[in-house]
Amino acid sequence: MQRLNLLKDSFFGLDVVQQQLVVGSAVALAAGGILLYAMQRRPKVKTIPLGEGWWGAGEKTLSEDKKIHPFTVKTSDEEIKDLHERIDKTRYTDPLEESSFNYGFNSTYLKKVVSYWRDEFDWKKRVAVLNQYPHFKTKIEGLDVHFIHVRPPHRADQKVVPLMLVHGWPGSFYEFYKILPLLTQNRSGVAFEVIIPSIPGYGFSEAPHKQGFNSLAAARVFLTLMERLGFSQFYLQGGDWGSLITTNMSQMKPDCVKGLHLNMCVSNRGFKVLLSMIIGPYLPFLVGFSREDVRRLFPYFEKNVWEMLRESGYLHIQATKPDTAGCGLNSSPVGLAAYILEKFSTWADKKNRDLEDGGLERKFSLDDLLTNVMIYWTTGSIVSSMRFYKENLKGNPSNRIDAKTGTFVPTGLAAFPQELMHCPKSWAQIRYRNIQSYTFMPRGGHFAAFEEPRLLADDIIQFVKKVEKL
Ligand SMILES: *[C@@H]1O[C@H](CO)[C@@H](O)[C@H](O)[C@H]1NC(C)=O
Ligand SMILES: *[C@@H]1O[C@H](CO)[C@@H](O)[C@H](O)[C@H]1NC(C)=O
Ligand SMILES: *[C@@H]1O[C@H](CO)[C@@H](O)[C@H](O)[C@H]1NC(C)=O
Repeated sequence: MQRLNLLKDSFFGLDVVQQQLVVGSAVALAAGGILLYAMQRRPKVKTIPLGEGWWGAGEKTLSEDKKIHPFTVKTSDEEIKDLHERIDKTRYTDPLEESSFNYGFNSTYLKKVVSYWRDEFDWKKRVAVLNQYPHFKTKIEGLDVHFIHVRPPHRADQKVVPLMLVHGWPGSFYEFYKILPLLTQNRSGVAFEVIIPSIPGYGFSEAPHKQGFNSLAAARVFLTLMERLGFSQFYLQGGDWGSLITTNMSQMKPDCVKGLHLNMCVSNRGFKVLLSMIIGPYLPFLVGFSREDVRRLFPYFEKNVWEMLRESGYLHIQATKPDTAGCGLNSSPVGLAAYILEKFSTWADKKNRDLEDGGLERKFSLDDLLTNVMIYWTTGSIVSSMRFYKENLKGNPSNRIDAKTGTFVPTGLAAFPQELMHCPKSWAQIRYRNIQSYTFMPRGGHFAAFEEPRLLADDIIQFVKKVEKL
């Protein structure tokens, strides 16, 4: 009683100002509490701002032509004659003895590829193959954006789901030519309406004229494209740059993206990843690794650090001085083919470096490989495709706001065993907060759609069915 009185006295013993202070703080505390509560109650979905951009030449034009124009790939005798003349003037360097593909593209094998290109490869026929699907162009942010748009043959009696597929480097829209018919056909009641754009600066999409066109800009351009085509909800799929671009699209407009399917996933670095790298090989279950994760990831230094050093020289060049190396590539078709096709050898399987022919024709036909090279050659787009690295790797990518923003749309991951770097589910979950499916694929590498169209199509379909609850 005595103490209580004392307390009471001391409270009421405070002067008016002090009393007001106490009451004020209490109110502030309560308000803070409510605010904190409200913040926690707010849905956790953070988005990254859409931003804006204009990449055309010179001054921004006030009104943009929003129409969609049909487009046809064309070629001419002159174009082919010029190609042959340049091929005939190539200077080769003999490979070192027994070097296979370890010093880069073996030039003895390169001569074989080139003689096929020069004398048997029929570009006019390949152009007809390219034109078997309907192509279009439309102006977005000052650039002519190229895309393919294929509807399933029948629309009744099946669920038609819009799906955009996004390629990477050194690929093109052509990577999807084999998977396309697998997706547009009716498979147990689902068929896709497929949209395949070319990243600006790649193939038939106009190259940005201004600095700064990165994956966020590409994401915004493709969101505008989908809007212009009348889609308010759709699925996205990508590997390589396509994986970053579609991720950024999902971060910008999560309401529009019903599901995101990736065959390559860039994980955040951080304490959790570092820790799991250290204890993963010994106590995998503690860090959420499966046996297959351990097999694919370790020994970590050799498989990831050392391999990445051996394989990422191109990245450093393209992220710093793309125009310099690009100058030679854009003048020499054979130089361009060696530069591009070496990636199709090693990224399908790193062991291909030890094969005399780089294992190229094990996975791909020369017709398909050279068609992709010709898309770069005839459009003169190698330099602009390389610049995309510089624009994306400016500054420290992990310091940007968007790198800290999670991705909340339903996500499906297909982990191919020969992918450049394995990303375990527990790492992917740091960025992708709603993983609906994660599949260890039985075979295949970086160019999933080009190498293993059937496997990839099956995984996309099972993912979409899961999300649609079919
Ligand atoms: C380069 O490729 C050719 C043809 O495949 C092969 O015969 C030759 O041994 C290879 N050269 C080296 C150095 O690996
Ligand atoms: C699509 O597949 C479903 C289920 O297999 C079938 O019932 C439907 O008739 C098919 N529709 C078309 C247009 O083929
Ligand atoms: C886009 O998404 C990727 C995730 O793949 C992320 O690393 C990146 O920070 C995002 N933003 C940009 C500009 O790349």
